[in-house]
Amino acid sequence: AELSNAAKIFNDNCASCHIGGGNILIPQKTLKKEALLKYLANYEQESIQAIIYQVQNGKNAMPAFKDKLSAQEIFDVATYVGQQAEQGW
Ligand code: HEM
Repeated sequence: AELSNAAKIFNDNCASCHIGGGNILIPQKTLKKEALLKYLANYEQESIQAIIYQVQNGKNAMPAFKDKLSAQEIFDVATYVGQQAEQGW
């Protein structure tokens, strides 16, 4: 099937560390709902905005994307990650 634009952004920029919604560097800090609720600041209150913040700014070993992806691309990939988390990847 043809990948959506957001899925393509994810595959091109995120999947190297987060394939399948996992985390190859810090195994517990996945992109699954339980991990986002536990580790990502403000995910419970404002899920997409919390993901956008992390993608823009990075954290520790995760690089910042604000100079690499457009605001629209960051919004699209964050929405995709939020949807995938809700659906269980
Ligand atoms: C954490 C998204 C690219 C490495 C996270 C988290 C999100 C996220 C939402 C929080 C997960 C949690 O705390 O459970 C993304 C997206 C990416 C991307 C959407 C692409 C635009 C990458 C890449 C790497 C990476 C390329 C590796 C080079 C990490 C690491 C953490 C993390 C190490 C844990 C940070 C910490 O709390 O110390 N990512 N990520 N990410 N990501 Fe990414």
